[in-house]
Amino acid sequence: MTCAVGRAACPRARVEGRWATVSPSLVPEAAVHIEPFLVEQWMNAHETTATWNIAETCVDSLTLDELLALSGDADGVVRRLRETWLGYGDIVGSPRLRAAIAALYGEGITPDHVLTANGAIGANFLALYALVEPGTTVVTVQPTYQQLFSVPASLGAEVRELRLREEDGYLPDPDAIRALTDERTDLIVLNNPNNPTGALIDEPLLREIVEVARERDAWLFCDEVYRMLEHEPGTTAPSVADLYEKGVSSGSMSKSYSLAGLRTGWVAGPREVIERCLDVRDYTTISGGVLDDALAAVALENKDRVLHRSLEIVRGNLAVVDAWIAREPRLRYIRPRAGTIALVRYDYDLPSVEFCQGLFDFNGAFVMPGAAFGEEHAFRLGYACARDVLEGGLAAVSAYLRTLEG
Ligand SMILES: Cc1ncc(COP(=O)(O)O)c(C=O)c1O
Repeated sequence: MTCAVGRAACPRARVEGRWATVSPSLVPEAAVHIEPFLVEQWMNAHETTATWNIAETCVDSLTLDELLALSGDADGVVRRLRETWLGYGDIVGSPRLRAAIAALYGEGITPDHVLTANGAIGANFLALYALVEPGTTVVTVQPTYQQLFSVPASLGAEVRELRLREEDGYLPDPDAIRALTDERTDLIVLNNPNNPTGALIDEPLLREIVEVARERDAWLFCDEVYRMLEHEPGTTAPSVADLYEKGVSSGSMSKSYSLAGLRTGWVAGPREVIERCLDVRDYTTISGGVLDDALAAVALENKDRVLHRSLEIVRGNLAVVDAWIAREPRLRYIRPRAGTIALVRYDYDLPSVEFCQGLFDFNGAFVMPGAAFGEEHAFRLGYACARDVLEGGLAAVSAYLRTLEG
């Protein structure tokens, strides 16, 4: 496996001199056990056969033609793609893509503070694998994306969860996070904006959480895939990578940029973490796909246009959801402040898996059971799909609710 261009450009030389320390006889102390990923398994089971997919968390995805049109230079982009050398490419992500990602953060994040990965799911895995030490305590919030606590648990950390409450608007109390930490805590994990609630931690609150992490000299890792999809015009979710010297952020092209098919995400943070992630990534990734990398760079270089489309979809569709909730007296939600999803609570005497399966079987409307997040009598609604899918899906849920009312 040789690759003149990619390997020459990669910081692989860093391992020289460390090889002597690698022992072929290293034996893991315990077998790794990882919990089934409930959200992904429910998606896998239903998404291809759903009539009304209102479980999806991505903004209605773009076609390649639509992306080319948004770039304003379709011919130029296609010509460069056709000339692309189909080797491994830049191991850490192309300089062009990493520059475009770094531009999403403040000055402290340069292209050298960015590493690309296979979606945010790859980025999260890398960062957690790099940051979690067995025997430490990791503090996280619930509900959230299961990967953020199941991976640390699988790596031998004691995971302590702060349950976010409806009455607090699903926002974490920094003192409650502090109370969960101890001298073994070297990682706090957040997800902002939050999946599944759409809650948004604003900068003052995030700074308070940064202080808690700093008191423990802990890393603060935040999955920020829904960043840039804030509903209030002029608001941008703060990034932990900008606010804290030990802050590490993950992001991706999937949600806000409507390009999940590019399978491109990233870790952004201190150089030390990028180095640690590189050590892990050598085992999982080698490099991203060169065409994915090139197209992700095109999208981010035209992010204003891409995000304008995304924001029109999520803000317009959220108004539709608001009106629907207002018409359904046995449903309620805390209006999301960002992202593509909301946690809807229902007043029917049915566990959420039964509720959602019953709905799917009744008319093919597809939502995510709250049980996937440890939340009962609730489901997660994805509202960033095409408007006709959303309207059809909500009408299908209403029809199902009528059957529950006898
Ligand atoms: C919070 C969160 N993180 C990560 C991911 C994975 O995203 P990607 O498609 O970028 O791998 C998801 C997907 O639903 C998500 O909701």
